[in-house]
Amino acid sequence: MFKRVLGLVMVLALAVALLPSTSVVAQEGEVWCGTDEEVEITFIAGTVGGEHEVYQGLVDRFMADVCPNITVNLVERPESTTDTLAQYQQFFEGESNELDLFMVDVVWPAMIAEHLLDINDLMDADMLARFYPALIDAYTVEGRLVALPWFAGGGMLYYRTDLLEKYGLEAPATWDDLAVVAKTIQDGERAEGNENFWGFVFQGKAYEGLTCDALEWQVSSGGGRILSPEGVIEVNDEASIEIFDKVASWVGDFVPPEVVTYQEEESRAVWQAGNAAFMRNWAYAFTLAQAEDSVIRDLFGVSPLPGKEPGMTAATLGGWGLSVSKYSDNPEAAVALANWLTEYDALVEFHLARGEQPVLPALYEDEELQAALPYLAFTSDILTAATPRPGVAGEQYAVVSELYYTAVNEVLAGNVDAATAMADLELALADLGFEFP
Ligand code: GLC
Repeated sequence: MFKRVLGLVMVLALAVALLPSTSVVAQEGEVWCGTDEEVEITFIAGTVGGEHEVYQGLVDRFMADVCPNITVNLVERPESTTDTLAQYQQFFEGESNELDLFMVDVVWPAMIAEHLLDINDLMDADMLARFYPALIDAYTVEGRLVALPWFAGGGMLYYRTDLLEKYGLEAPATWDDLAVVAKTIQDGERAEGNENFWGFVFQGKAYEGLTCDALEWQVSSGGGRILSPEGVIEVNDEASIEIFDKVASWVGDFVPPEVVTYQEEESRAVWQAGNAAFMRNWAYAFTLAQAEDSVIRDLFGVSPLPGKEPGMTAATLGGWGLSVSKYSDNPEAAVALANWLTEYDALVEFHLARGEQPVLPALYEDEELQAALPYLAFTSDILTAATPRPGVAGEQYAVVSELYYTAVNEVLAGNVDAATAMADLELALADLGFEFP
């Protein structure tokens, strides 16, 4: 009798395990599609340097192997994060159900949280334990988790190992070293006939990317952080002014004058054509430069950015998460896709194809990833060592950042000196309610 009951219990347990999942809240270890119904969702992601193809591959696998009942329409976003935010805001204004899942920049949550679903309501807390807690915090606004972390980032220095060797030079530890080495290599390469060769490229256009680069210049020079966590203005100090004027003096010398219009991809275009000795960029540029057909494959290295003194360095915390719109008709299916995309196996596939920096501590220990992405060795502490953009700005972040990148862009363009630009910026930030130092 006991055996028969046990047998029945086992059969029942097996049947439950084999049933397609219909639970509303995702549980650890199960394939979870959120719904059994045939649904269609729109996923906005992309589109910087080959990003779209990688996402399409992952989405195709999700539809074929994981949740065949969910059809995903992948739509590209604008290349600039600043333009992407503007586009999303239009959708939100109209409370549009046309977008379900979309990628969000780590600096946006406070500005758009009211339009985003609280993922805590749809996922078991155990499943969120796989992420760096600091990233869960970054995407949490007033207790609501408004995005799942997808990938992280920090600025790094790319340098040409073959050219350093050719000229008998060392990779630079300070910004001043970088200037000397970049100029020497540029002079040498031009003398050999490559008129298009430049020493250093970065992101200098008036957009969010320049906020990231300029914050690194300030912090790696011992200057301020735009705003302190308490809301004190930190732009108008000697160290910051000095480095801004210095970088401006490089423009037109060993940095192309067009840098004031460069986003990530414009700088990568110069670098990947073999026409720059150094580049500041995120980790996505690593995999692209290592592609089979890349002319600089195996001819470059990556390191932390230089600073004012050896050992000083800074990396602005970047990265993206996955959010579900409050106006979505199929939030469970959208969260199911976000959940699958951020699981270990899908992320290994993603990072091998795309580079970038992982959001799961476990991925930094993955041997396949370590072999493919050597920068993991020095970026594993990214989340403790990286410099966040000022969270204290909250809903005003976009305004603060625009004032900041506009001011720095003017300095780079040679339209104003850094002392004047930073004094004016300080006044403008004070007008927004932030405190004078
Ligand atoms: C990268 C970063 C993002 C940053 C953007 C600036 O996409 O991941 O956080 O805002 O670059 O261009």
